[in-house]
Amino acid sequence: MPASADSTFNHPTQFVQGWYWALPCKDLAVGRVKAISLLGRNLAIYRGASGQVVAMDAYCPHMGAHLAEGKVEGDGIRCFFHNWKYDAGGNCVEVPSLGRALPVRVRTWHTAEKYGMIWVWVGQTDPGSTAPLPFAPELEQVECDTAFGARFVKNCHPNVLLINAIDAHHFNTVHHLPLEIVFERQALNAHAVTFRNTTRGGDDAWLIRLIRPLYRQEVTYSLCYWYGSTGTVTLGPDFLHFYILFALRLAEGGKTEGQTILLTRQRSGCLGWVINRGLLWLTQQVGNYFAKGDTQVFQTIQFDLKTPIKADQSILDLIQQVNQQTAVHWGTWETVIIPERNLPT
Ligand code: FES
Ligand SMILES: [Fe+2]
Repeated sequence: MPASADSTFNHPTQFVQGWYWALPCKDLAVGRVKAISLLGRNLAIYRGASGQVVAMDAYCPHMGAHLAEGKVEGDGIRCFFHNWKYDAGGNCVEVPSLGRALPVRVRTWHTAEKYGMIWVWVGQTDPGSTAPLPFAPELEQVECDTAFGARFVKNCHPNVLLINAIDAHHFNTVHHLPLEIVFERQALNAHAVTFRNTTRGGDDAWLIRLIRPLYRQEVTYSLCYWYGSTGTVTLGPDFLHFYILFALRLAEGGKTEGQTILLTRQRSGCLGWVINRGLLWLTQQVGNYFAKGDTQVFQTIQFDLKTPIKADQSILDLIQQVNQQTAVHWGTWETVIIPERNLPT
């Protein structure tokens, strides 16, 4: 679908308001500050003495120095240039040359840490309690062990990359899966949608006959898509599910920056630790399989679903779900106002 003002899907400068991955937790030690560019906006992101992560607009309200050049002090940050200090709320709390504070403020953004990643809430309104961080539905309340897989850049939009895992037809043509995948779509909440394989056919293929005893019902393969940008994959036999999270974000020019995160339930003790290392390694191999075969097509695709057929229904569903969510503009993160007459049907 080509980008248009009233369609967020595959739009190069407009995207869904939501939680976006920023950088791995371990890359931001207490007392350190980093410069990041996230969805067109430059930020200084630091970890204060209390361990809290603070994300604020990059430029000092005095003269515009990048605050990542400064120093973390307690839970605040001091600008390198003339030493003005801002607290974790972005309020100026000290101007040394004046001996007092000034009523100026740097814009700050909500942050959270999950699955070994720092996430930033991108949008004008607060996430509140109804916009959770992305999770795999089976792991909603579960403590997890995690490992990072590949970090990648793709020459297409995150929305388009997400389509790959629900493009039922391509599993047969590209990945030679001897099974017709049929998805059932369900809204998990206002920000996430799930697609679950419901087909039980394929028994004429030896591979399916071989794995069938591992499944009480249909072969488990389900996706959960958050904010049009982060996708979780759940698959594997009934006794052992693998979970892979693809954290994506829009990059300049309608491209994708992504980080694969492998997840498994926390298991206790030393044995649990060893088992989980093995499971995460296995999950990585599963993830590699996903990445194989399609790579080239995402370097050259000009996505435009001009001629949808029945097998493309899940893709149409995702396009609709993305377009229904609140959108924000690249760089400003201000809400996109869509004239009512142009709302997608
Ligand atoms: S530019 Fe930051 S204190 Fe002057
Ligand atoms: Fe694929």
